[in-house]
Amino acid sequence: MSTGPTAPAPAPTPFATLNVIGHPLIQHKLTMLRDAGTPTKIFKELVDELAMLMAYEATKDLALQQVRVRTPLEETNGMKVRGKKLTLVPILRAGLGMVEGILRLVPSARVGHIGIYRDHSTLEPVDYYFKIPRDTEERDFFVLDPMLATGGSAVAAVTSLKRSGAQRIRFLCLVAAPDGVQRMERAHPDVQIYAAALDRQLNDHGYILPGLGDAGDRLFGTR
Ligand code: PRP
Ligand code: URA
Repeated sequence: MSTGPTAPAPAPTPFATLNVIGHPLIQHKLTMLRDAGTPTKIFKELVDELAMLMAYEATKDLALQQVRVRTPLEETNGMKVRGKKLTLVPILRAGLGMVEGILRLVPSARVGHIGIYRDHSTLEPVDYYFKIPRDTEERDFFVLDPMLATGGSAVAAVTSLKRSGAQRIRFLCLVAAPDGVQRMERAHPDVQIYAAALDRQLNDHGYILPGLGDAGDRLFGTR
């Protein structure tokens, strides 16, 4: 095993709800994702892999229950994730890029969809689609969006989910800005946020600095 420098542990953040995942693989892939020279195909693969790695961390406190299992040799005790059904809720469009990677870890998860885009002049969220599984109260929701910028989209998505009866919600993103985390924390202090990075600030157009640009455009090649 080489003994080169290891990834610095992420500094504790000033936000009670924010969990920045400093795992070396996540930080390596995030750096590739930020690179303006990364083409669409690789960008998509990186978002997929990052989502899977982030989900591994964001599910580490799921409750377990003991079960009996018969191996080819004998019966023994095992553990399974208890009861609650997991539901992934990507915010369209860019959140879609995070779904498949997480489904590879949790194939039984259901997928809801929330359509929201930012009005370019006001930066406020505009809702256009909402479809989630029934039995919301029994489910653990993971809202997915690579970018938490002003926080308008995330707050609106979580508000809609709660209005539909959702009680346990986590928010997974790749890059968060302080403004967005603060807005989420004020509106939804019960929602834990998982991010690969807490970036410096927003620019005058609401883009995250240093960020990675427009996640939807880079994922779908629309610019
Ligand atoms: C991006 C991103 C988030 C939102 C974040 O979506 O995927 O949903 O902006 O910004 P906010 O925190 O300031 O709300 P966008 O509005 O560009 O929509 P699109 O994915 O359909 O292009
Ligand atoms: N949405 C994006 O896709 N990127 C940003 O930097 C901010 C919002």
